[in-house]
Amino acid sequence: MAQGQASNRETYLTGITTTGTPHLGNYVGAIRPAVASSRNTGYRSYYFLADLHALIKCQDPEQVRRSTREIAATWLALGLDVDNVVFYRQSDVPEIPQLAWLLSCVAAKGLMNRAHAYKDAVQKNLDEGEDPDRGITMGLFSYPVLMAADILMFNATRVPVGRDQIQHLEMARDMAQRFNHLFGDHFRMPEAVVDDNVAVLQGLDGRKMSKSYGNTIPLFLPEKKLRKHINKIKTNLLEPGEPKDPDTSPVFQIWRAFATPAQTEEMRRQFLEGIAWGEAKKQLFELVNEELSEARARYESLLEDPGHIESILRQGAEKARAHSAPFLDQLKKAVGISSLI
Ligand code: TRP
Repeated sequence: MAQGQASNRETYLTGITTTGTPHLGNYVGAIRPAVASSRNTGYRSYYFLADLHALIKCQDPEQVRRSTREIAATWLALGLDVDNVVFYRQSDVPEIPQLAWLLSCVAAKGLMNRAHAYKDAVQKNLDEGEDPDRGITMGLFSYPVLMAADILMFNATRVPVGRDQIQHLEMARDMAQRFNHLFGDHFRMPEAVVDDNVAVLQGLDGRKMSKSYGNTIPLFLPEKKLRKHINKIKTNLLEPGEPKDPDTSPVFQIWRAFATPAQTEEMRRQFLEGIAWGEAKKQLFELVNEELSEARARYESLLEDPGHIESILRQGAEKARAHSAPFLDQLKKAVGISSLI
């Protein structure tokens, strides 16, 4: 049986690009559910730091290094079960970029021309009256090929992503199909898992919390700064005692993402009764701080011990390579570039 097909167990895989500092929106939307599912032993899971992807949008080495450290420490501090999942750094698995090359040689350029991220960059240039290729690297253009390699390398079947990534999964399937058609049945077809129930957190200004809007609350701010950030969340001018609309308030939306259903109902009642904004924010700070404070202490001590993080990542890479090295050999043989004897 082909290595890649070695089991028909579901395999989950997800990558996190190492360019930023995790914020509350990342926590609620992606990290918290992923850490919870890392404890599920019913399927195989791969979680990785997509540092090769980071180079596509960030050419500041210190930022990539810092982000890699912070993201790894965040996941570990929050209790990612590294015995049950494979947690690794993409660049520690050299088979991935090698597979990206094999896939590049079956990927239609016309397909890549249609990738949203690339098309948006071209459109922006045209709108500004510039050369359509201005500032566009081959890395950006072939981003979907590297992402397909991440996924197909481990024969993932389920890939939790945001809506913006669905097209990349379609492209990965397209490459997998072409490869299988030419060289034999090596890859399973991956599917995007888009969870519509997952909370999308509002940021300080009420828009979706996102690094690109500059409206985030970093996840592991020291307590004082967390309080300060929460105090900056946008409110209206309603006075204490005046009823407030919970459903349009980012204070309430963030509350809801951390509270139990009973606490949410209680806060809704307080809004309708006219809770003062200062009081609502004080309670929000206490709730968020309580959920995060133990993990924050672990995060801080992990950041002071990069050697420990590094050893966990290396063990993860070893586990990943136990699969990727023989699988890549199989694929190389299939395309005709293996040893002659
Ligand atoms: N492109 C993803 C993002 O920007 C990150 C990523 C890289 C990824 N490789 C992946 C996600 C493989 C899932 C599977 O969010």
